[in-house]
Amino acid sequence: MISKYIDRFSTKERVLHWFVTVTFFSLMLSGLGLYSRLFNGYFSLFGGGSNAILVHKIAGVMFFFSSLILFLHNREKVTEFDQDDQEWIRLRGGYLSTDEVHLNVGKFNPGQKMFAIFIGAATAVLGITGIFIWFPESFPRWIVQISLMLHGLMFVGSIMFVVVHVYLATIGNPGTLEAMLWGRVTRSWARHHHPKWYKETTGDNP
Ligand code: HEM
Repeated sequence: MISKYIDRFSTKERVLHWFVTVTFFSLMLSGLGLYSRLFNGYFSLFGGGSNAILVHKIAGVMFFFSSLILFLHNREKVTEFDQDDQEWIRLRGGYLSTDEVHLNVGKFNPGQKMFAIFIGAATAVLGITGIFIWFPESFPRWIVQISLMLHGLMFVGSIMFVVVHVYLATIGNPGTLEAMLWGRVTRSWARHHHPKWYKETTGDNP
């Protein structure tokens, strides 16, 4: 009997994704108080400002390497945009249209690809600027100041994109979270959201 499910992510891929997620949220919570005095209350989650800074440094190193590995692992799938992807971009993924649009989407749609590229680039910028901020005495003042500005911009930008990512991966598209929890999706989910990937993996026409 044909299974109702199709494999989407391996155990390793899921462990890596959730590792990145835990380190990301640790960075976000420990970084909010450092970003603005308005959020100083968040320091109490860590038992004070110096503990929050320690958590931020440890989580920062863990996020940097794990997020970079996640990006490099998906590199080919997220950096190539074919004709179908260009059509998706032209129609804005159908999100702004009330008509039913049929888009030939592969494993990841262009929105997901752009998100993955943004997070990859943000990881590099946050990591490099983080080093300058960590050891301010070792670098010229202007480098540290530019780093503080870029670090803050990328911090806010990443949070905004992750909010959209979490919405689309959960309530926005029911059935998607299962892929990252159990590694598999239903055939009907795959046919509906990623028809080209469905055809590539099963050989069936969606
Ligand atoms: C509670 C938080 C999160 C949830 C519920 C979540 C959920 C998911 C799900 C369900 C997928 C698979 C989508 C699919 O099969 O098409 C996915 C993919 C992905 N997630 Fe997350 N995620 C979370 C946080 C994060 C964070 C913090 C990052 C990075 C900073 C991240 C980066 C990615 C990337 C790069 C992918 C590959 C596909 C893409 O680019 O969208 N996720 N996530």
